[in-house]
Amino acid sequence: MVVSVGRVFYQDSAEELRLLVTSDGLEPVGLMQAKREKPDPATFLGSGKIEELKELALEAGADIVVFDIALSAAQERNIERILGITVLDRTELILDIFRQRAKSREGRLQVELARLEHLSTRLVRGWTHLERQRGGLGKTGGPGEKQIELDRRMIGVRMKQLRDQLKRLARQRGTQRRARSRGDSITVSLAGYTNAGKSTLFNKLTRAESYAADQLFATLDTTARKFWLNDEETVVATDTVGFIRGLPHQLIEAFKSTLDETVHADLLLHVVDASSPVREEQIAEVNSVLADIKADDVPTILVYNKIDLSGQAPEIVREKDGRPKAVFLSALTGEGLDLLRQAVSEFAHEWRDLHPNEPREPEDWEVEMARDSGDPDDPRGRRKTAAEELAELESLL
Ligand code: GTP
Repeated sequence: MVVSVGRVFYQDSAEELRLLVTSDGLEPVGLMQAKREKPDPATFLGSGKIEELKELALEAGADIVVFDIALSAAQERNIERILGITVLDRTELILDIFRQRAKSREGRLQVELARLEHLSTRLVRGWTHLERQRGGLGKTGGPGEKQIELDRRMIGVRMKQLRDQLKRLARQRGTQRRARSRGDSITVSLAGYTNAGKSTLFNKLTRAESYAADQLFATLDTTARKFWLNDEETVVATDTVGFIRGLPHQLIEAFKSTLDETVHADLLLHVVDASSPVREEQIAEVNSVLADIKADDVPTILVYNKIDLSGQAPEIVREKDGRPKAVFLSALTGEGLDLLRQAVSEFAHEWRDLHPNEPREPEDWEVEMARDSGDPDDPRGRRKTAAEELAELESLL
């Protein structure tokens, strides 16, 4: 069961939500859309709509209701109480997808940090929500202020541990980046709205096996590979996490060091799904995240992908001074890929004129970086309750 509220602006928000839900391993069985001037502080929707939703959910046999907006802890709790089934909001849904997708050590630490940050806001605002789940474990008779304080402190300690570990990893990354920037091989980052086709393009350009799927955030961790331009030239490319409207701010915070790769690239390929009716809004959304992470001054080429669907012809669009501004292509059929190589090669030549240096081979780590460890035994896939997360935290500290 999927509820989407407002957002006339994004015509395909229902479709995006369907993709998000399936990416989280859930099966959508119904959709309800509602418009509201002002959210109800207690239940977000008015009582009539909530009743309607309850009926729909019952009819469809739904186990979970997903709201395509961020709910306060109190609203979520109240709606759950009325509906009698689990409620997820957009933030929790995205956090959960990220939890299932993160593979590298850094990616997992970042997601854990984001989840804890979210959990800590729930502790402050909606304690009884957790109380019920904790009661279910039969652990305590019901937490008082003292227990909340303890839990909050425990989360704080763990968050500090995670931040320290991430700082150490970011320092290593910084050293690697310095080593790389000494050479003259330019670095290229792929960024773009989720599902724009970054991984497909990355794979085509590097012949790597980065995971591409019709799921949101199929790739979560940064991967770096050599990207072949022509017989004399290669550049180092990184594929970064997909951006999305309303990406929870905890995630942007947590993923800063990964997104930093984008900030430090010499050239950004902003991949756009040319066939999406809301591509302009998606471009604006990505640009606003880039501005957030101070990457809006990195030279950018817009890559209009999926022209096999949009019906456009492959081409390079140029600025007045002749520099490539946008390339139209299809990563799937390969049409226009040569034009992108040409555009990047032109950029690289200009860049080299500005940074005269001896050419060098890419470092091994640049090619190896993608093969980060994944733990095959990780029993992911099941959503943990807040109480389970707290219990796990206790054992970690
Ligand atoms: P995230 O990991 O969510 O950020 O997605 P992404 O931008 O890496 O997209 P991905 O490469 O996973 O592609 C998303 C979907 O679009 C997949 O089903 C691809 O097969 C499809 N796709 C990618 N490029 C093209 C294209 O040029 N044409 C068509 N028709 N489909 C494409």
